[in-house]
Amino acid sequence: MSSLFNEVTSTRSDDVPVRRVTITVNGETHTADIEPRLLLAHLLRQGLKLTGTHTGCDTTNCGACTVLFDGRPVKSCTMLAVQADGHEVTTVEGLNTPSGLHPIQEGFKDEHGLQCGFCTPGMMMAAKALLDENPAPSEEDVRWALAGNLCRCTGYQNIVKAVLWAAERMDDTEAEEAS
Ligand code: FES
Ligand code: FES
Repeated sequence: MSSLFNEVTSTRSDDVPVRRVTITVNGETHTADIEPRLLLAHLLRQGLKLTGTHTGCDTTNCGACTVLFDGRPVKSCTMLAVQADGHEVTTVEGLNTPSGLHPIQEGFKDEHGLQCGFCTPGMMMAAKALLDENPAPSEEDVRWALAGNLCRCTGYQNIVKAVLWAAERMDDTEAEEAS
């Protein structure tokens, strides 16, 4: 086997069974020939070099690999990349806005929501899914939404504060835009 992922424009070995997929990642569409066994997390990290998506356990426990799949949070370590064919994936790299950091990123910075940072991309993507669905969550809502994401530094208190900070900031921004 020569490669896990080949953009169709590149060369590939013919002895590897592959399937052609088209996936939109962070707004950019990629068509690629991939092995059916390839995990979405590996496609993102090794194929597309989007290393913001971390893998901590490979067993759906830690949540470090969380990305949005058509807007819903999924653990990309236990999803096959071929399942993403025709779908939209958003990684932590896609959070940035043209004007800079997303309020969720600002919240983690302002409220010291990270220590080693390993869990941070997954936490942020789970938070994004929550705030897209519920722009004014309670502390309990945030804790439920992040229940599938583990922080080995045990920084949960500030992570929750960071998400609540972001919710408030996004609410203020919307109010300003409406006035
Ligand atoms: S690496 Fe996917 S849940 Fe831990
Ligand atoms: S900040 Fe280290 S694992 Fe969460």
